Amino acid sequence: MTSQEKVDSLPFIDLRKQFLRLEPALREALLAAAGSAQYILGPQVRRLEEALAEYVGVRECVACANGTDALMLALLAWDVGPGEAVFCPAFTFFSTAEVVALRGATPIFVDVNPVTFNIDPASLEEMIGRVQREGLLVPRAVIPVDLFGLPYDYEAVARIADRHGLVILEDAAQGFGGVYGGRKAGSLGQVGATSFFPAKPLGCYGDGGAVFTNNVELADVIRSSRAHGTGGHRYEHIRLGLNSRLDTLQAAVLLVKLDAFPAELDARQEVALRYERALAGLVPSAPAVPGGLLSAWAQYTVRVPAERRAAIMEHMRGLGVPTMVYYPKCLHLQPVFASLGGRPGQLPQAEKAASEVMSLPMHPYLGPADQDRVVAALLEALEVAGR
Ligand SMILES: Cc1ncc(COP(=O)(O)O)c(C=O)c1O
Repeated sequence: MTSQEKVDSLPFIDLRKQFLRLEPALREALLAAAGSAQYILGPQVRRLEEALAEYVGVRECVACANGTDALMLALLAWDVGPGEAVFCPAFTFFSTAEVVALRGATPIFVDVNPVTFNIDPASLEEMIGRVQREGLLVPRAVIPVDLFGLPYDYEAVARIADRHGLVILEDAAQGFGGVYGGRKAGSLGQVGATSFFPAKPLGCYGDGGAVFTNNVELADVIRSSRAHGTGGHRYEHIRLGLNSRLDTLQAAVLLVKLDAFPAELDARQEVALRYERALAGLVPSAPAVPGGLLSAWAQYTVRVPAERRAAIMEHMRGLGVPTMVYYPKCLHLQPVFASLGGRPGQLPQAEKAASEVMSLPMHPYLGPADQDRVVAALLEALEVAGR
C-alpha cells in the first residue's frame, strides 16, 4: 500500500491527510527551524505571535506551552486566588476549572444553554447573585467557553460581567477561527486563551497554546510569567511564573498551518452544512448556529437518547465509524470537586447534555462519500438501537 492509499483507507483520520497536503512547506519550515538551533523562543515564535494577533484582531498574542497554561497565565497575571469566585460552565473540558482551583480560587459552576451548549447567561446571573448573598467569596472572573467551536454569547455575558465587575477570560481552546458579530474568537473578553493541541481547529504537532489581549501591560506580565517570571534579564525573577514557552519547532508548524487555516475553516463549514442537510429532521437534535456567529466546528455534536447512546455508538463502531462523547461527566460532579458540594440535578441542562451528546467525525478533509457513510451509519444505528 502506498502512503496515499493508507491515508485514503482511514477516512476519519484527518491529521495524516493534512500533513500530506502541506508536506513540502512543512518539511522546509521544520528543517529551517531545526537547522537554526534556536529551539527555544526562536524567531518563528515571535512571527507566529504577530500573525496570530493579526488574525484574531488583538494587539497582543503570547504563545505558550498549551491551552491549559494559557488559561493559567491569565489567572496568574490577574493574581486570581483564594477567596475569589470564578464562574465556569459545568459542561466543558476539565482545564477550564482546573486552573481556577490550582490558583486556590473557587470555581462556581454555571448551567449551559441547551441549544448552543455554551454558558447560560441567566444561570450565570443567578450564580453570581448566590455568591453575593452568601458573602463568602468575592466574584472575580468568568471563563466562558466556545464549546465545539461555537463562540459563546458574548454580549449577554459581557453585560453581566460589566455589571458585577468581573473580568472575562474567554476559553477559545476549541473556538479558534469562530466569529461573533464580526469579532474573532480569542478577542471576546479582556483575555482569550486557545490551544494548539493536534485535534483543535488549528493544531500543532504536539502541545501548544496562546493568550490574546489588547492590554499591552498585561501581555508583558504574561510574557514574563511564561518564562519563570523573568524581569530585565534572564536570571532576574520578579514574579513566580511557569515554564510555558512554545517550542520553535511548533511555531514553525503553526506558521505553515495558519496559512492553510482559512481554506480549512471554509471546508469545515461545507462539511457542517452537508451534515445539517443530511440529518435535518432525522436526529433528535443537530447543532444550531445563532445568527451573526460562525462556528469553527471543532466538533459536530448531535444529541441522541441518553439510554441508547452507548448502543448507537457501538453499532456505528461496528460499521467502521468512530464517534466520541465530549464530555460524559459535568465538572460539578467530578470527584476532585466533591468538596464544593455539587450534586446531580443541580445544573439540569449541563447534565442532560453530558448524557445525550455524541460527536461525529468532523475535519476539513472529510469528503462527501465518507460523510454519507457516517450519516448512513448513524441512521442505521438509530433504527437498530431505537429512537
Ligand atoms: C475547552 C478547553 N479548554 C482548555 C483546553 C486545554 O488545552 P490543552 O490541552 O492545550 O492544555 C482544552 C483542550 O482540550 C479544551 O477543550
